[in-house]
Amino acid sequence: MKNILLIGLMAVMSSSYADDVSAGRAKADVACALCHGPNGVATLPNAPNLAGQQAFYVSEQLKSYRSGQRQNAVMGVIAKPLTDAEISQLAAWYSAIKVTVELP
Ligand code: HEC
Repeated sequence: MKNILLIGLMAVMSSSYADDVSAGRAKADVACALCHGPNGVATLPNAPNLAGQQAFYVSEQLKSYRSGQRQNAVMGVIAKPLTDAEISQLAAWYSAIKVTVELP
C-alpha cells in the first residue's frame, strides 16, 4: 500500500516536472532564445550560457532582476512581468539541458 502511494506520488511529481520543462522551453523559445540561444548556449557575446545551470541559481537570479536587487537594464525589463510559476518553468527548462564539460 505504502509503495503504491509512493509510486503514485513519484509519477505525479515527475509528470509535473516534465510539464514545467516543456512550458519553460516554450516560453524560453519566445522570450529568451534570441540572446541565450535556443539550446541555452548564448548567441550574444555579453549574454551568459544558461544550459545546464542549476535551477535554484536561475530562479534566484530571475527573482533578483525582478525585484531590482540585481540590476541590469535588459534583464530587469525581461524579468519584471515573470510570475513565480514562469520562473520555475524557465529554471526547470535550462537546468534540464544536459551539458558535457571538457577540460582544456
Ligand atoms: C536581449 C537579450 C536577452 C534576452 C532576450 C534575455 N536575456 Fe537573460 N541576460 C542577458 C544579458 C546581457 C545578461 C547578463 C546581465 C548581467 O550582467 O547581469 C543576462 C543574464 C541572465 C541571467 C543571469 C545568468 C547568470 O549567470 O547570472 C539569467 C538567469 C537570465 N538572463 C535568464 C533569462 C531568461 C529566462 C530570459 C527569457 C525570459 C532571458 N534571460 C532573456 C540578455 C538577455
